[in-house]
Amino acid sequence: MNPLFARKTLAQLQREAGEQEGGLRRTLSAINLTTLGVGAIIGAGIFVLTGLAAAKYAGPAVVVSFVLGGIACTFAGLCYAEMASTVPIAGSAYTYAYATMGELLAWIIGWDLCLEYAVGATTVAVGWSGYVVSFLHGFGIDLPAALVQSPPHGLFNLPAALIVAAVTALLVVGIKESANVTSAIVVVKVIVVLAFIGACAPFVHAANWQPFVPPNTGAFGHFGVSGILRGAGVVFFAYIGFDAVSTTAQEAKNPQRDLPIGILGSLVICTVLYILVALVITGIVSYTALDVPDPIAFGVDHVGLAWLAPIIKLGAILGLTSVILVMLMGQPRIFYSMASDGLLPPWAAKVHPRYRTPHVTTLVTGAIVAVAAALLPLEVLGELTSIGTLFAFALVCAGVPILRRRDPDAHRPFRTPAVWVVAPLGVLSSVALMASLPVDTWYRLVVWMAIGLAIYFRYGRKHSKLALAATASAGEERAAAAAP
Ligand code: ALA
Repeated sequence: MNPLFARKTLAQLQREAGEQEGGLRRTLSAINLTTLGVGAIIGAGIFVLTGLAAAKYAGPAVVVSFVLGGIACTFAGLCYAEMASTVPIAGSAYTYAYATMGELLAWIIGWDLCLEYAVGATTVAVGWSGYVVSFLHGFGIDLPAALVQSPPHGLFNLPAALIVAAVTALLVVGIKESANVTSAIVVVKVIVVLAFIGACAPFVHAANWQPFVPPNTGAFGHFGVSGILRGAGVVFFAYIGFDAVSTTAQEAKNPQRDLPIGILGSLVICTVLYILVALVITGIVSYTALDVPDPIAFGVDHVGLAWLAPIIKLGAILGLTSVILVMLMGQPRIFYSMASDGLLPPWAAKVHPRYRTPHVTTLVTGAIVAVAAALLPLEVLGELTSIGTLFAFALVCAGVPILRRRDPDAHRPFRTPAVWVVAPLGVLSSVALMASLPVDTWYRLVVWMAIGLAIYFRYGRKHSKLALAATASAGEERAAAAAP
């Protein structure tokens, strides 16, 4: 078989899962999984990008953008749940693609996932910095403007780089976020969001919702219907993270029932919260004023609830920290899987002898993310994360029916309902949201993918363990056939 299309069989993957399973125990309940999802989801999307999407693209109709984003994620979530339960490796869409579409596409997806995880972590770090600056400002401490913004407005974003360095250091020594700590952060985040909704709802002026859909300016994506779509592409970022639930397939007590509950439950909770936040924020402040680094805190200040602002900011800072942590934990593990398969150099698969963490990839990821967070603006980063993740979602949705055809009898603890409708709708809605993003974001995606393909053809293809094994067994067969 052409090595480009060599794929792992389901049996092979399920065997690998069995080998990896040694240390993992099935302890997570539906509630744990839902909490994990909410913990990974609520972050810079709602605390930062809501303002930008309303001010620049959708106006008050950013509420509709959130609904569209939630619908697209539901389709993808159902497909992720089936993949995660059928290919129960604590991996990612990269592993799923290896089983369904072959090595080249697996590489493409793995490379693309860097946009979700590494660029996502960069985005959240920049959002984190915005809230820290605003929090300190509330106490009369103003950091020099040149050190808190990326060029051209400043020199570099120091707080964003520092939080990445701190989280990276924690990840190298193998911090184990206990279930209690994660739950505590989730509780704080949800309380902060509810406090914002409850305290600010009485200050809503319906006049701020007029016009609900501001007229299009003449350019695609700038208000009007196309603005709602582009807004959905941007705020889609706020939903990223629910796929983290699918990576716990090996640790769920009852994956058939609990994975979909975790994925869909966390999505429903976040969608409802997001819609309410979007309604309130655009109701208390004119959407034209929302293009600020800390729109939620800005809204609270705006209505005169000065006492609530520091609480919101602190909650946001804590909440964003946990999202950065989850993303910076995911990225090195994807590199690690790719290196274990021979597609990246062996040093990337090294595990620290004492801490048992993939320390080399963690440090490399941390260094790159810290530099990027210091130098790049939030908007560019957020859109790049969204397009990369949407691309991965589209491929996962396409993979589920392929795997159904190819291995119809495989054990599937969870089956996507109405898969022949849900999977195509998942692909369509992901592609539609990608299409709504600015053309510059597409260029960046294409450049990123071109770099990835160059690396694959120069390195991965020649070192792939699967391809080397196939070549070796073909050689043995030839030798056996030629033997007298
Ligand atoms: N959904 C995550 C956030 O909004 C990535 O920060």
